[in-house]
Amino acid sequence: MSIRIRFIVVIAALSFIAIGGFAWLSYSFTYKNSLQEARNKGEIVSTFLEASRSFYRTKQRPLIMDIVDKERFYPEIMSGFTVTRGVWEEFSGKLPDYKFKQASIDPLYPLNKADSDELKLIQEFDANKILKKKEGIIEKKGAKFFYYAQPITVKEKCLRCHGDPKDAPEEQRKLYGTTNGYHWVDGATVATYITYVPIKTAVDAAKKSALTLFGYGLAGIVCLSGVIWFFFEKRIIAPIVRLEKRTSEISLGKKLEEKIIVTSGDEIGSLGNAIERLRISVLKLMEHYKKNS
Ligand code: HEC
Repeated sequence: MSIRIRFIVVIAALSFIAIGGFAWLSYSFTYKNSLQEARNKGEIVSTFLEASRSFYRTKQRPLIMDIVDKERFYPEIMSGFTVTRGVWEEFSGKLPDYKFKQASIDPLYPLNKADSDELKLIQEFDANKILKKKEGIIEKKGAKFFYYAQPITVKEKCLRCHGDPKDAPEEQRKLYGTTNGYHWVDGATVATYITYVPIKTAVDAAKKSALTLFGYGLAGIVCLSGVIWFFFEKRIIAPIVRLEKRTSEISLGKKLEEKIIVTSGDEIGSLGNAIERLRISVLKLMEHYKKNS
């Protein structure tokens, strides 16, 4: 293999490794950042929902209960869970990738039914009452989400509507039926507020930026190899080939009068000068030999 090819292969291989390393670093850095961002978003959304729930519970509900006939039940203004669900439906109409659920083992509202992952979370919260929140990454239908979950525990006052269906407001029974969402037990954790923030777009962005970096890097390697090729050809290979040709000629006693012209001051120049001295010595020797023979 010629020096030129060997040199280019080494440079290209090293550059390739370096660029691959940079692309991988860029991917893991962007991925980490996007996870952190998803986490922050999840916390913001959950905090906002909590705040709106708290405002409803402490400020609006007492007023509503004063105004509305005790026998009537309008879930949209009398159930914090219906209010939160309504607020969420408005929100997700604008940002449909986000998901929020008041996931329950046995809900009044069927769409609040916990899936298998949520069920596990609820069981974990129920088994460990000190645990007040859980977060992490979860995959749903092939898409990755960051989730942020908090437990919902039954209190005595909840049992009016979630205990024996006979005690529940009549309008609630009409609207939600009497099969699901009842016979809950005081102190049990039966549900979770859970927010899902998509991280797929963020992961895609991380992949894209790493690939772009890699693509530019590859283009850079090709350009660099071209420059090295040109430089080697002009500055190293061509002068060496010229000197090699002249040395062979001198060794065969050909063109001994023709001077070797050296233009560069580098190692190849020095080699040229040495061969020029060799040429002169051979020429003198030959003349000396001719005179004496
Ligand atoms: C006045 C009746 C009433 C009371 C009191 C009440 N709830 Fe509910 N709850 C409802 C209704 C109605 C829904 C259905 C919400 C909807 O339409 O999304 C609901 C929904 C829920 C849900 C969502 C799952 C589901 O069943 O659809 C949870 C969790 C929940 N309630 C927990 C509680 C807890 C905990 C308490 C006590 C702190 C409580 N509820 C008190 C009426 C009530």
